[in-house]
Amino acid sequence: MSKVAILGAGRWGTALGLVLSRKGNEVMLFDKNPSVVEALKEGRDPYWGIGFEKKPLATTHLEEALDFSQYILIALPVQVIRKVLEGKSIKGKIFISASKGLEVGTNKRVSEVLKELFPDCKVLALSGPSFAEETAKGLPCAVVLAGEDVALLREVRQLFSSEPFRVYLSEDIVGVELGGALKNVIAIACGISDGLGFGDNARAGLITRGLVEMVRLGTALGGKVQTFYGLSGLGDLVLTSTSSKSRNRTFGFLLGQGLSLEQAQEKIGQVVEGKETVKAVKELSEKLNLYAPISWAVYRVVVEGEEPLKVARELLLRPPQNDFEGL
Ligand SMILES: NC(=O)c1ccc[n+]([C@@H]2O[C@H](COP(=O)([O-])OP(=O)(O)OC[C@H]3O[C@@H](n4cnc5c(N)ncnc54)[C@H](O)[C@@H]3O)[C@@H](O)[C@H]2O)c1
Repeated sequence: MSKVAILGAGRWGTALGLVLSRKGNEVMLFDKNPSVVEALKEGRDPYWGIGFEKKPLATTHLEEALDFSQYILIALPVQVIRKVLEGKSIKGKIFISASKGLEVGTNKRVSEVLKELFPDCKVLALSGPSFAEETAKGLPCAVVLAGEDVALLREVRQLFSSEPFRVYLSEDIVGVELGGALKNVIAIACGISDGLGFGDNARAGLITRGLVEMVRLGTALGGKVQTFYGLSGLGDLVLTSTSSKSRNRTFGFLLGQGLSLEQAQEKIGQVVEGKETVKAVKELSEKLNLYAPISWAVYRVVVEGEEPLKVARELLLRPPQNDFEGL
């Protein structure tokens, strides 16, 4: 039995709080939202009404959460992580990042941001196909925990691992984090396609060619090819690109249906990581001179506000490439 601090008591932080709590760990959730914190203190989860068997600790004070444990699970939106933690004195702790995306401006993965802020700490990443609600309900899922220190991976796996929450291990933290970040951009493309009524064939094509793009960029940035065919790559890509529960896909779907960027974001009301990460993907692919037509198309719609149908048509009019590079 261990103590774990969770930064971010949104849907994912709360779902992971339930997983950890069911395993007998003591958790403290930190969030800026007082009503979420009050609900959690009473043992109620504020999203699905599932409830904690043992009341968790919850706080709006960051320092309290940071002092609580040597394990700090990050479930905050990627773009706020630096702002929340910058200037804090944190030494010798173990961060587990469960957030998926790239930091806009620096184009860094979350573990890179954390390492830069706290060079003295160890950082792992947890990713894979896992919607918060299903995880919170205790339905089966398989995720991957990545890091460089195998002994530490085994230690941290014990905190989470249970019959419904299967935790696989990986030494490729670069590939695992990039898979979780890049798939959100492709999911927006699939949503746009679905919203435009392009059908199942188009979606399958986008998923497959999107995976090619993920591998191209991800391996150039240091991830291993096989990681992109694993849980944090293909696994999460399929989940996010095909389910109506996915925020990134739904965001794209609403744009495809004709809603404005503001209307779509307002309707979703939660963090849509892919619409930020696509900015980093655009910069990185251009800097590395890598071909990423699907991500660039998403950028034009989501950042530059171009009309989805026009951009999709242009994507379809490109000369098709070889199915495999090097043919
Ligand atoms: N929801 C899922 O199914 C799921 C699954 C896997 C990974 N993730 C990842 O987890 C991360 C969080 O997603 P989520 O679904 O929990 O989002 P969410 O919108 O449900 O929750 C985000 C939480 O962060 C809090 N927050 C925002 N800014 C803050 C700040 N400055 N200080 C303190 N708290 C702050 C908000 O109050 C909110 O409670 C994302 O990177 C997402 O990609 C989500």
